[in-house]
Amino acid sequence: MAMLMMSKYAGRYVDPETWRRELLEAIPDLDFRLWPEVGDPEAIEMVLADFAPPGFLRSLPNLKLVSYLGYGVDNLFKDPELPAKVPITRISGAGIADQVAQYVLLYLLRRHRLLDHYDNLQRRRRWDPTRPKRNNEVVVGVLGLGTLGTKVASILAEIGLPVIGWSRTLKRIDGIECLAGEEALADVLGRSDYIVCVLPLTPATHHILKRETFALCKRGAYLINVGRGGHVADFDLIEAVDSGLLSGATLDVCELEPLPEGHPIWGHPRITVTPHVAAFFVDDGIAEAAENYRRLKRGEQIPHTVDRAVGY
Ligand SMILES: NC(=O)c1ccc[n+]([C@@H]2O[C@H](COP(=O)([O-])OP(=O)(O)OC[C@H]3O[C@@H](n4cnc5c(N)ncnc54)[C@H](OP(=O)(O)O)[C@@H]3O)[C@@H](O)[C@H]2O)c1
Repeated sequence: MAMLMMSKYAGRYVDPETWRRELLEAIPDLDFRLWPEVGDPEAIEMVLADFAPPGFLRSLPNLKLVSYLGYGVDNLFKDPELPAKVPITRISGAGIADQVAQYVLLYLLRRHRLLDHYDNLQRRRRWDPTRPKRNNEVVVGVLGLGTLGTKVASILAEIGLPVIGWSRTLKRIDGIECLAGEEALADVLGRSDYIVCVLPLTPATHHILKRETFALCKRGAYLINVGRGGHVADFDLIEAVDSGLLSGATLDVCELEPLPEGHPIWGHPRITVTPHVAAFFVDDGIAEAAENYRRLKRGEQIPHTVDRAVGY
């Protein structure tokens, strides 16, 4: 039973040699292969992947499990020949959520605590205490209450910010006002001073933030997108910020990655962009991959599998 690792981020987010070494420590007899050295395709029963060329997974006759090297599996669904019956699982450990929560806190508090303003004052050598908004004068709307959203929402609530969380099915989370379903989106957007998008990219969430939904937002709201670039219609966002409907945005993810050199987001004075780095390390996946391999060998259920019907 061989395990094949396929990462387009090898050498950046993912160090395949670390994975190989640690997986072999956990499973000494593991037949570990690294794309594109596939070897005999019949031996491959488990694939660790953050991408796969269309049709490739289908060409593995004995494939039993695909383990995604991250949280958001949308990349895999781009393959129209993705084998329908092979389960897909994803990393579930808290490491990625911790990193994304740090990122959201950083960019949200940068604004809430007027950091850009004070940087500007320092450059002008001015000592000018400026009243920020009190916690109870703002509302944070968190779109998505999964592993990430729950973490982000809970930490924000813990530091005193009022949080509304939105998901597909209704959740109960201490200290968070939870709403669910399409019909509740307008309410969340209309009340939120900060909108944090931590949704998975699916047909239902593609361009969920576009001209029509920006029009529902509280005037001057600030968007932080750490979900996927496909959640936001870029040019509608620029229009919403330029018109003052939104006060600005921080985007860790873009529809086109890398963001093309001539894209107007690069030079926009009220939009901050980072190169998909909210979570950088996916090492939680090593122990989970080893455990999934053992479960597969024992014929046991694989946890955290993706529901193909909803796409996450
Ligand atoms: N920027 C980065 O570095 C980075 C890192 C990691 C992940 N991500 C992105 O973050 C996404 C979320 O990760 P996760 O692990 O938190 O996902 P998850 O555990 O699968 O949770 C997804 C959440 O979104 C909700 N949701 C899905 N479709 C919806 C819809 N149509 N309407 C309303 N709510 C909907 C789900 O509702 P239910 O609770 O009802 O199912 C759930 O609460 C990933 O898919 C990935 O794209 C980005």
